[in-house]
Amino acid sequence: MTWLVTGGAGYIGAHVVRAMTEAGERAVVYDDLSTGVAERVPAGVPLVVGSTLDGPLVSRTLAEHAVTGIVHLAGKKQVGESVQLPLHYYRENVEGLRVLLEAVTAAGVPSFVFSSSAAVYGMPDVDLVTEETPCAPISPYGETKLAGEWLVRATGRATGLSTASLRYFNVAGTASPELADTGVSNLVPMVFERLTQDAAPRIFGDDYATPDGTCVRDYIHVVDLAEAHVAAAHALQASPGHALTLNIGRGEGVSVREMIDRVNAVTGYDRPPTVTPRRPGDPARVVASADRIAAELGWKAKLDVQDMIVSAWEGWVRQHPQAALD
Ligand code: WQD
Repeated sequence: MTWLVTGGAGYIGAHVVRAMTEAGERAVVYDDLSTGVAERVPAGVPLVVGSTLDGPLVSRTLAEHAVTGIVHLAGKKQVGESVQLPLHYYRENVEGLRVLLEAVTAAGVPSFVFSSSAAVYGMPDVDLVTEETPCAPISPYGETKLAGEWLVRATGRATGLSTASLRYFNVAGTASPELADTGVSNLVPMVFERLTQDAAPRIFGDDYATPDGTCVRDYIHVVDLAEAHVAAAHALQASPGHALTLNIGRGEGVSVREMIDRVNAVTGYDRPPTVTPRRPGDPARVVASADRIAAELGWKAKLDVQDMIVSAWEGWVRQHPQAALD
């Protein structure tokens, strides 16, 4: 099989490419390099620079590389930015997907894995979020992911395209330092940044209805997440006619305070956090039920929060060599 990995030069996409090639699949990266980095694409994997909004280029790429499956990760993913720029997010994430699907179905490519998000659930009021928990996104970003799932599923029904929408929970860690996340928009890198700038890490609110008052999330190692893509791709390939929707998490909640304590221990900075007011729109608790993916694909996360923080820190130190303490 040859898999076109859109967004394959991004943090998560590059890990998917790595996992796919390690599993013996051929990968072709399609990325507009707006946030992706060409150096993340390994030697021997072709890189096509372009947008999924460019239908003719997608069609040419599918034909030239004899693509037999798609893993679609290209898109915009900043929740806050999506509130400011909803039209941009709908264009990139929904119209970009629609144009891609048009080319994919016209070419008769049979399998499509879609990168979705726990953001489709919004503020879930349950202990463990199952795929049956009602979707009620609270940001344009989450809306574009839910609309994307609908588009993918409807296209599958109409054309026989076999589909899987993977709802990622909170992704962290790296397979190796050079593939690390370069963004500073999630908890772990934000804590690294504070510590290495000689500032106290911040807890955005400690008055939530959770055991220690801070928000609880389900952190998933990017290496495990990438393996889940391989498992989904293989399932689609093995039996056409699939329409899967799957949470990808560990099924275990970790609080913000716990995460910051662990980051302090791993980095050696040992700087106590300060508590600031709540960040608007943060749900108290978002933890996956990972039962469906275990049953459907036999996939289960292997790595833990410690693995995530240690590997993410190695990546951070590579990008900021002065960050390491003696
Ligand atoms: C985690 C927790 C913060 C920084 C978002 C998107 C989601 C997905 C992943 C997309 C929250 C708290 C953070 C800090 C803190 N995105 N925090 N101090 O908000 O759970 O999920 O990213 O692809 O759709 O919503 O992740 O890492 O921003 O925050 O207290 O310095 O850490 O309030 O409770 P979030 P996050």
